[in-house]
Amino acid sequence: MQTVKIKEIIKETKNIKTFRLDLDLPALPGQYVMLWVPGYDEKPLSISYPGEDVGLTILKKGPTTTRLHEMKAGDVLGVRGPFGRALKISGKKIIAVGGGVGMAPIAPLIEKAISKGVEATVIVGAVTKRELLFVDRVEKAGAKVIITTDDGTCGLKCYTTHALEQELKAEKYDECFTCGPEVMMYMVLGIAKKHKVPTQASMERYFKCGIGICGACVMDDGGLRVCKEGPNFRDVEIEKFKDFGKYTRDASGKKIYW
Ligand SMILES: Cc1cc2nc3c(=O)[nH]c(=O)nc-3n(C[C@H](O)[C@H](O)[C@H](O)COP(=O)(O)OP(=O)(O)OC[C@H]3O[C@@H](n4cnc5c(N)ncnc54)[C@H](O)[C@@H]3O)c2cc1C
Ligand code: FES
Repeated sequence: MQTVKIKEIIKETKNIKTFRLDLDLPALPGQYVMLWVPGYDEKPLSISYPGEDVGLTILKKGPTTTRLHEMKAGDVLGVRGPFGRALKISGKKIIAVGGGVGMAPIAPLIEKAISKGVEATVIVGAVTKRELLFVDRVEKAGAKVIITTDDGTCGLKCYTTHALEQELKAEKYDECFTCGPEVMMYMVLGIAKKHKVPTQASMERYFKCGIGICGACVMDDGGLRVCKEGPNFRDVEIEKFKDFGKYTRDASGKKIYW
């Protein structure tokens, strides 16, 4: 583990901040780090800005992320990584669906895709306008952006999945990517399958070691570890996960149904 200083903190939404660290960490889209918050815990977080002054974009959720949100530039954190199988772009025209803080790995994916000449559409969803993440960033990268909010305060008043269904009816895409609430990703996979669009999804499970040893993050059944073989899986792999879209596990391994 290396200790690093927080260089800059950017408030993205009411409950989401981006932490730029004094660290050059090259990484591929969809990879993550284990971030240690002194006195609290170590947590997996997607790399939202790879490379110089590596960035992590973090939703305030429980004790560790709440502590992080109280920290200031100059404070020290611990970083291990980058880890995990990246999202792989092979199509010429892609569509991505990011719900809430799920845009953290989607934004660098879109930037990379467009820099390679890939045509990209992004469906960015949030509960309400002020919770939308990285809309300007993916627009600036050159993506076609479709915004959805549950309350209709910005873009279409619907779920991301409804917008995806409409878009896949209207346009042909080679590939789909998704990150966000698991119930959303479950529906995205179903819709994309109906339209015969191969999909990769960024899975989230409770991590302890982050290096494939403890077994805390294994998907049921088959033994694939989210920290090691994931966190990004292809639809053909995800279809075999009997917990996907149904339940996750807490730190003790107890099932928590969505
Ligand atoms: C590969 C990966 C990448 C991630 N990237 C990001 C990111 O870019 N930005 C971001 O904000 N968050 C990300 N997360 C989620 C983040 O790790 C958790 O939100 C964080 O650990 C919460 O820590 P906490 O101490 O604040 O809350 P906790 O007290 O740990 O959690 C609060 C609540 O969420 C539940 N919970 C915590 N972690 C998980 C989990 N993995 N699966 C299901 N339930 C859980 C707890 O049981 C509890 O009810 C990622 C997770 C994974 C596995
Ligand atoms: S977190 Fe320990 S095996 Fe994945």
